[in-house]
Amino acid sequence: MATDLDHIYAESLTNLSLAGNTAELEAWYRETLSRKGRVYLLTRQMGQLEREARPAFGKRLNEIKQDLQEAYDGRLAEIKTAEMQAELNVDAIDVTLPGRPQLRGGLHIITQTLRDIYRIFGDMGFQIYRSPDVETDEYNFELLNFPPYHPAREMQDSFYTTQPDVILRTQTSPGQIRAMREYYPEPIRIIVPGMCYRNEQVTSRSEIQFTQVEGLAVGHNITFADLKGTLTEFARRLFGEARQTRFRASYFPFTEPSAEMDVSCFLCEGEGCQVCKYTGWLEILGSGMVHPNVLRNGGYNPQKYFGFAFGMGPERIAMLKYGIDDIRQFWANDMRFLQQF
Ligand code: DAH
Repeated sequence: MATDLDHIYAESLTNLSLAGNTAELEAWYRETLSRKGRVYLLTRQMGQLEREARPAFGKRLNEIKQDLQEAYDGRLAEIKTAEMQAELNVDAIDVTLPGRPQLRGGLHIITQTLRDIYRIFGDMGFQIYRSPDVETDEYNFELLNFPPYHPAREMQDSFYTTQPDVILRTQTSPGQIRAMREYYPEPIRIIVPGMCYRNEQVTSRSEIQFTQVEGLAVGHNITFADLKGTLTEFARRLFGEARQTRFRASYFPFTEPSAEMDVSCFLCEGEGCQVCKYTGWLEILGSGMVHPNVLRNGGYNPQKYFGFAFGMGPERIAMLKYGIDDIRQFWANDMRFLQQF
């Protein structure tokens, strides 16, 4: 009997060492240690033994069971490690490979500039008004008091469409008429941001598309002092508290009187540098008191209402602020340029 035991023990150990993978190992367990396995079945034989032989047999059987269980556990761990190693060899992850960089999106420099402008005018009570990119000749020019012979109306300067009189807006100023017609008789304080289009020779200083921000204030008591105060405050908030402004007489068909606003050069503090062309001043925007004809075209009686308007180019502002010397960069979609901001 005892030899039987030791024989099974020895054979089981040998078989165990021959099991080369988890499936074979499971089979071995089923045949050996499970409730239907050889070792378990040996317990049944106990009954046939002499009474005094039983304790020794039982003891030996327990030892064997325990030994085999330990051997099995050890072999299982070995095989698992080997299998994992084999899998890693085939499906290897090279931990020394550099990771794939995650590209992080960012706001376009003009979007950032527009948001700066929105924030400042928003704080001063101006609302954003949206006006279409596609306009009629009437809104883009006529109602803004452009005389029929004005050079901007030439085919060469505007992008015309196949529809007669339908053009891409050359300026955001038609938003003034649209806002007035929508809001009459209420007072108005709006800015109109948007893309404008001009059929121009593309150079480092002019593009065929660019953004503008128009401004319009209409009310009963609006004077040129409001225009100067609002725009000077805007310049200080955008370019710094220390900025000075000056207004130069100018001409626009839709304003009378008209003025261009300069800010003291923030690069040289007015000393004179290349950017301000040694004048100490940077031209920032056009402005003026809304022309009576334009108020009338918007539905407002120019005897009772007054207004001021202004228009600026965010590209120009960004160029001055960041020292960009070529306007074509903005819409060229060159990541090397855009990623700098
Ligand atoms: N529309 C003008 C342009 O495109 C800019 C402008 C100047 C707008 C003076 C205004 C203004 O509202 O008052 O050049």
